[in-house]
Amino acid sequence: MQGSTVLITGGAKGLGRSFSEALGREGARVFITGRDTMALDDTVKALTADGIAIEAIRADVVDRGAMQAAVARIVDVSGRLDVLVNNAVDPGPVGPTADVDFDAWWYTQRVNVAGPLVAAQAALTFMNRVGRGRIINLVSPAGVHRWPYATAYSVSKAALLKLTENLAVELGSTGITVFSYNPGFVDAGLTRTGIELAESSDNPWLRRIGRWAVKVRDDGDFTPLDVAVGTLVRLARGDADAWSGRVINADDDLVTVVSGGERVPGSPANGREFR
Ligand SMILES: NC(=O)c1ccc[n+]([C@@H]2O[C@H](COP(=O)([O-])OP(=O)(O)OC[C@H]3O[C@@H](n4cnc5c(N)ncnc54)[C@H](OP(=O)(O)O)[C@@H]3O)[C@@H](O)[C@H]2O)c1
Repeated sequence: MQGSTVLITGGAKGLGRSFSEALGREGARVFITGRDTMALDDTVKALTADGIAIEAIRADVVDRGAMQAAVARIVDVSGRLDVLVNNAVDPGPVGPTADVDFDAWWYTQRVNVAGPLVAAQAALTFMNRVGRGRIINLVSPAGVHRWPYATAYSVSKAALLKLTENLAVELGSTGITVFSYNPGFVDAGLTRTGIELAESSDNPWLRRIGRWAVKVRDDGDFTPLDVAVGTLVRLARGDADAWSGRVINADDDLVTVVSGGERVPGSPANGREFR
């Protein structure tokens, strides 16, 4: 990643912070966005002390003006933008869909679907000009499987998968690739917060989801943080460029196969999109 520039939305907390740290350690110049000034400052301070080139830009991901200004600032100071990681997320309301608070539900779609579109459009003003770049959209099994009582999150991630697929086709003749990245359940960020909140919550639906997440964790089916982060780094540096538009899972083996004596990209070794 030496010499490249990355933008990570929501890069100060949870998985976003781990992605920022890992990409920075690989030599990338890192820009992070978010709304929480204190968290942005804390992350910049800590990672700068570790020798990482990082800058924070306060920007709500649904604010088109703020995101366009963020990209303009990045291009201005670093002269490039190689990778956009659409990581920012709203976990959404939990409960029966029949009664769910409409405004909270719609807000989740704005942050999780419109947000990545806004960030992608801003990034593409530069990437299209240079004919090069990668966009990585963070998805979740919640976007493929049924996740009753968490429809705001589930529906938003399903929509994001389609945004990835369609955008990848539209950009197919350019040098720009687009991925959905499923890190799996990780003991970090919203999963950890969700489990903690569920323990003390009087919302039976949240408690139910929390119990299920604890079972998945105790069954050993969480993705280790280093695996979730490691595959994101490989995506960012181009190891999966042949699979633009696809869902890449944290534990996919991004192999290169030899065909007719020539090295060509193969499919993710396990040949599946979601378990
Ligand atoms: N953790 C997991 O196990 C897991 C599993 C599957 C998929 N994922 C995906 O991985 C990504 C990161 O999740 P996480 O667990 O790290 O979440 P998290 O800890 O809740 O962090 C969410 C991040 O999004 C930012 N954010 C929220 N609303 C925003 C807005 N309107 N504008 C700008 N930034 C905003 C937050 O920063 P501010 O508060 O400063 O705005 C924060 O940095 C998400 O896309 C999630 O769906 C996570």
